[in-house]
Amino acid sequence: MRKNMQKLALLLFAAVMIFAFAACGSADQQKTQTETQPAADENTEPEQAESSAAGNDTLVVYFSRTGEQYEVGVIEKGNTAIIADMITEATGADSFEILPKEDNYPDTYDALTEVAKQEQNENARPAIAGEVPDLSKYDTVFIGAPVWWGDWPMIMYTFFEENADALAEKTLIPFSTHAGSGLSGFDSKLASACPGSTVGEGLAIAGTDAQNDQDSVRSTVNDWLSGLGY
Ligand SMILES: Cc1cc2nc3c(=O)[nH]c(=O)nc-3n(C[C@H](O)[C@H](O)[C@H](O)COP(=O)(O)O)c2cc1C
Repeated sequence: MRKNMQKLALLLFAAVMIFAFAACGSADQQKTQTETQPAADENTEPEQAESSAAGNDTLVVYFSRTGEQYEVGVIEKGNTAIIADMITEATGADSFEILPKEDNYPDTYDALTEVAKQEQNENARPAIAGEVPDLSKYDTVFIGAPVWWGDWPMIMYTFFEENADALAEKTLIPFSTHAGSGLSGFDSKLASACPGSTVGEGLAIAGTDAQNDQDSVRSTVNDWLSGLGY
């Protein structure tokens, strides 16, 4: 009889343990489901991707030189190109680099300043290499260049004038790199060169910072982009 009681107690204990494990198991399962709930977040990702794909309504056009540049020595990636890439990465925009059809620009700083001055004096319109992308696809165009003699490099005026009709209804956002002149009137000059466009708030970055202080410049660029609604 006593043995039977012991058996019954053991059976009861076993039953209680099985129940306890089963309950634990289902709690674990619940936890796993909760943990996999981020899958719901994953489901929202395509939407985010879509909104960053909306970056494809945006184009970044820029001109930039390598070689010897002011206070940065000989550079392999141009100061303005660095900023253009930051904008492209942050917005998912397409990008187009303006290159001269005939590259007569010297690789040494002093000689380059002379050629640039001559172009400015002659009000030259240096030809652009290759084909400009179909601008009708874009609502917003970021446009960047180094300040050359207090102005856009003349090749940028080639771009503005050859594409004046296509740029007319767009939002144009200028950015510069420079050695002290800031935006140097890029915004008002852009508005005059592209009548009918809306010119947004521009950004000026010192060329030395673009080259040597990229973490802090990236955060400046990102803050500016947030202010513009990106
Ligand atoms: C021809 C030439 C003219 C320049 N004129 C100016 C100027 O008027 N004001 C200024 O702040 N920086 C001036 N700079 C400095 C450049 O704007 C600066 O170094 C810029 O970051 C170069 O950018 P990049 O590497 O994209 O070409 C000039 C540089 C060159 C080569």
